[in-house]
Amino acid sequence: MTDALELLKTRTSPKAADLVPPAPSEVQLREMLTIAARVPDHGMMKPWRFIVHPMETRAALVEKLAANFRAGNPNASEGEIDKQRLRFGGSPLIVTVVCRIVPNVKVPDVEQLLSAGAACMNLLNAAQALGFGANWLTGWAAFDKSSKELFGLADNEQIVGFIHIGSVKGEIFQRARPDLSQIVNKI
Ligand SMILES: Cc1cc2nc3c(=O)[nH]c(=O)nc-3n(C[C@H](O)[C@H](O)[C@H](O)COP(=O)(O)O)c2cc1C
Repeated sequence: MTDALELLKTRTSPKAADLVPPAPSEVQLREMLTIAARVPDHGMMKPWRFIVHPMETRAALVEKLAANFRAGNPNASEGEIDKQRLRFGGSPLIVTVVCRIVPNVKVPDVEQLLSAGAACMNLLNAAQALGFGANWLTGWAAFDKSSKELFGLADNEQIVGFIHIGSVKGEIFQRARPDLSQIVNKI
């Protein structure tokens, strides 16, 4: 196992286009999702759930997403629509993280949303700890009305991330990280 501190200090997202087979095994995926669900969760509301899309069973979903994109962008070129197919069809594994917000006087909506974000983050860390790359994406499909039906979302559910996971091809670009002096105050 990767040393925890080293993992947290070096975690980086590869581009989704650089994620290639092999995908995590069923056992590895279970481990990742177990870790993703181990997040702070005020009131134990479990305000998140996961939809797993392995590459082998994603073709129909990809075509429906392409159709929804075309419907929402009637002037889109075939190239732009193909780009969407690649975006959703390319990664070895995608996990859609859904936030389910239930009205609760003690647990504000934002805390439920944050817990779902934490689940996304844990999933990224778990994937990297197991030797894979992962990238947290949203984009139009996360917010488009058409996705409600496509992903089977209830009225109080929303997509907070498409987590693309796979083995990493090539070197990962290392972007600059924030200078602590600009984001930390001591008062
Ligand atoms: C909620 C959320 C949604 C994101 N959606 C996108 C996206 O749709 N497209 C994109 O290029 N990057 C998106 N990003 C950024 C990438 O996930 C990633 O953070 C970035 O490429 C590199 O950051 P890292 O190396 O620190 O992980 C999103 C990030 C967050 C937190």
